[in-house]
Amino acid sequence: MDPRFRDTFGPELSIGKAVEIMTASFAQAGCSTPGLDARLLLADIAGVERIEFIVAPERPVGADWQRLTEATERRLAGEPVARLIGSWEFWSLPFALDASTLVPRPETETVVEAVLAAIDRSSGRDASLRILDLGTGCGAILVALLSELPNAFGIGVDRELGAARLAQANAERNRVAKRAAFIAGDWATAIVGNFDVVVSNPPYVATGAIATLDPEVRCHDPPLALDGGPDGLCAHRSIIADLPRLLAREGTAAFEVGAGQAEAVVVLVEGANLRPAIWRDLAGRDRVVLGLPSARQDTPNKPCDEMRREKDLA
Ligand SMILES: C[S@@+](CC[C@H](N)C(=O)[O-])C[C@H]1O[C@@H](n2cnc3c(N)ncnc32)[C@H](O)[C@@H]1O
Repeated sequence: MDPRFRDTFGPELSIGKAVEIMTASFAQAGCSTPGLDARLLLADIAGVERIEFIVAPERPVGADWQRLTEATERRLAGEPVARLIGSWEFWSLPFALDASTLVPRPETETVVEAVLAAIDRSSGRDASLRILDLGTGCGAILVALLSELPNAFGIGVDRELGAARLAQANAERNRVAKRAAFIAGDWATAIVGNFDVVVSNPPYVATGAIATLDPEVRCHDPPLALDGGPDGLCAHRSIIADLPRLLAREGTAAFEVGAGQAEAVVVLVEGANLRPAIWRDLAGRDRVVLGLPSARQDTPNKPCDEMRREKDLA
């Protein structure tokens, strides 16, 4: 056991003291959200309710103290909390995770926002839309969209059979399974389409940049979810090349992009005869490239013309 915990961790340890010790240790180790990490581990391992941190800080951790010690040590060794507790929240919905799935990121919620905004400006949320989510992972994007679109049906595809199975379980957990199907496949090769929405957060890290990623990502997220090939855009190219046969005439496509990739994806989307629009995330970074029907005028949160003007001025 880590010497820091030898004298303090035991069945009598109160949840208040546990939060204090764990938060201080995580902060010292450089974790970005030390207090939250401590509470999430206590909630998951010792079943502590959120309210108990406030009204019952004296409650002892009890028989779970050894598992808590082990999880604390693994967190200090760099394992992400999402991996330790095996689940994470996305779009305020719970998602189970395993080694085959990426931890869904908050910035990916921008994909859901952008698609919903495009639907609000076209068919409306009650339409019976057909959605295709390529590289579905734990099902985060598709399940979030189905939770907002009561008459939509969606197919999620992932190269990893384990991910497709877990996404199915997550659809059940979030009560959208009757309107979802998940399959293992290589992008859309097994899909025949006429989809109203094609969405993807594909792997987009350039192969050579993977070694520079934060160890919490590099060592714990599956390589298949990260590696986007030599320039990071191999998956975008494959998927966008298939859009003409997958998208319905008035359909919308949406792609998450990494830093500095939006313009290249805009060019790909234009090549598929769609009208591009860029959405920024909460940090103000270009995060999503939409491909809208070319005739439709839309108001993205960052029109491409504006983006090009900024570039001309630079
Ligand atoms: C960046 S992760 C996104 C996961 C999830 N959609 C999300 O946003 O959290 C990319 C996903 O694409 C999947 N993937 C990679 N190559 C694939 C391929 N050729 N065909 C289908 N899925 C693939 C990975 O397994 C991974 O689940």
